[in-house]
Amino acid sequence: MRRTASLRGLVRETQLAPGRLVEPIFVSEAAGATAAGREPVAAMPGVDRVSVAVAVEQARTAADLGIAGVLLFGVPTDKDAEGSGAWEPDGVVQLTVGAIKQAVPELVVMTDVCLCEYTDHGHCGVLRSDGVVDNDATLELLARVASSHARAGADLVAPSDMMDGRVGAIRAELDSDGYTDVGILAYSAKFASAFYGPFREAAGSTPAFGDRRSYQLDPANGQEAIREALLDVQEGADMVMVKPALAYGDLIHAIKDATGLPVAAYNVSGEYAMVKAAAAAGYLDERQAVTEILTSLHRAGADLVISYHAADAARWLAQ
Ligand code: PBG
Repeated sequence: MRRTASLRGLVRETQLAPGRLVEPIFVSEAAGATAAGREPVAAMPGVDRVSVAVAVEQARTAADLGIAGVLLFGVPTDKDAEGSGAWEPDGVVQLTVGAIKQAVPELVVMTDVCLCEYTDHGHCGVLRSDGVVDNDATLELLARVASSHARAGADLVAPSDMMDGRVGAIRAELDSDGYTDVGILAYSAKFASAFYGPFREAAGSTPAFGDRRSYQLDPANGQEAIREALLDVQEGADMVMVKPALAYGDLIHAIKDATGLPVAAYNVSGEYAMVKAAAAAGYLDERQAVTEILTSLHRAGADLVISYHAADAARWLAQ
């Protein structure tokens, strides 16, 4: 059954489709001040931090390619201890959500909900006087951020902070503010990973001290990841995520089984950078490698994949 392309096509178990891909976009205030509206990210060739206007263009291109949605990250110029820029009504994410929803209404707009891009210390929550992240004090702020994204028009908010109880807190706030139709994509199984390095350059969110191991999952723990996903379901998550993707196929599968919810796999910045670097060195074929990676994530059980290669993959699929 493998002799010819048509035979292989007839029995292929997993199909790639642009409608199952989500493209991350970094919207930056500083990029907005440049002539081109773009600033390159050194560790992510092909990915830029962009202005609101360029983000709208990128969103339109994504929609034209049949890509289902975009996931927005904000890169502000001003930071403070609380990350208060994250819930400003005219913040860069809020403005971009509104502009994309107006220009390309059919595109699903998701927003990353976290404080690390907005805090001057780079942690995903507020700090107690001893420098430890204060889980419960952070919940109220995250709920404020999510509600501000919903007000701007987001279809789904995606909390990536890994505080306990954030999904419930966000659901309650969205409902009480009247955003009952706005869904939650929970970064449920988010591991403390080396593969976020390039993202932290792009988003300017490297912690000023310490690391994120007190709130993100230990890569050694699979049972705990499943428990985290089930807790998020109980608290009202509409979709759950496994992140990173490549080294966590077992959990994509297990979490799909355990929750029965739509599962997103986040093919993260370091995974993108690895492929880009190897391809640039001539060590592997980028198109084949990316196609294999995306296919394998769907085979593992992902319903949707968030990938910096989304636009390339959609173009390749159209050929
Ligand atoms: C913010 C956040 C991170 C990523 C998504 N949201 C970084 C982190 O937790 O340090 C990583 C995405 C990527 O690497 O592509 N908390």
